[in-house]
Amino acid sequence: MKPEIAFNFSQVTEAAAIAGYEWLGRGDKNAGDAAAVEAMRKTLNELNISGEIVIGEGEIDEAPMLYIGEKVGKGGTEIDIAVDPIDGTRMTAMGQGGAIAVLAAAPKGDLLKAPDMYMEKLVCGPELKGQINLDISLEENLTHIASFLNKPLSDITVVTLAKPRHEHMIQQLHKLGVKVFAEPDGDVAASLLTCMPESEVDLMYCIGGAPEGVVSAAAVRAMGGDMQGKLLLRSQAKEPTIENQKIDEVELKRCKELGVNPGEKLTIETMAKSDAVVFSATGISNGSFLSGVSVSNHKKTTDTLLIEGTTKTLRRIKTDYFL
Ligand code: FBP
Repeated sequence: MKPEIAFNFSQVTEAAAIAGYEWLGRGDKNAGDAAAVEAMRKTLNELNISGEIVIGEGEIDEAPMLYIGEKVGKGGTEIDIAVDPIDGTRMTAMGQGGAIAVLAAAPKGDLLKAPDMYMEKLVCGPELKGQINLDISLEENLTHIASFLNKPLSDITVVTLAKPRHEHMIQQLHKLGVKVFAEPDGDVAASLLTCMPESEVDLMYCIGGAPEGVVSAAAVRAMGGDMQGKLLLRSQAKEPTIENQKIDEVELKRCKELGVNPGEKLTIETMAKSDAVVFSATGISNGSFLSGVSVSNHKKTTDTLLIEGTTKTLRRIKTDYFL
């Protein structure tokens, strides 16, 4: 992707982060998300691209979300976009650290098109590329990885989300002696940690959102890491209640329409199909590798990570927006 187009995407996540920041600590996750969505939509519509949202926050009737199939941009190069205007809407509402505005973009056809449903994900950095497999248990993966890296399980660090559905898995990892970092939310940032040279994280495992999965796949591919995913129906990720089984039916129908199969192993190459991927994330609140938006009398400052697969670069962009 042309460098100037890639750079434009950093302005999109910056606008979303600034809009989301207005709602930091205000207890209203929907209002924060809606503000970030609107800012993202407005900025995307100012770009000289023919963009299409291929995976995002919902379906066409779920306005005001950036929906799957929504066209954005003033016209130009055809680009597919995966968005998560706020990864960490609850953290934003609660005034907690680690919320980011994030998206991935790639030439048309190069990002997985899938419904907004759950996905099981396993991610590692470049050192472990080719060594992960979602078809075997997490314990078997860890045993293999420990022996591949020639270190004991007690020297392996896994990052995950602190969700009730992961409690048993976390206990099992503790029993094995593995170090677990359980973040309240935000598996895009967690996935990136596996590829950050300064991070001690070896693996990210969780059941989280599919949009976050595709966005992460783009960044991880550009940084030379590896990832596998499996789309999960609502009652596979959560309790099989009658309500969730109804959601399963809708998800199955959408999966059929989009040509994807729940439970089928997706490789990183299926989720991010070329190296011409771009990933941009801007901090809303302070996190492990991004500062949040900061405001002084006369300016707002953002901190952005722009990762490009074509040039294999990771840029850190500090931007002052003068008021
Ligand atoms: P949102 O802020 O977009 O809701 O996502 C936060 C998050 O933690 C994601 O990173 C993760 O993929 C998803 O929620 C998990 O879903 P749930 O909150 O339903 O467990």
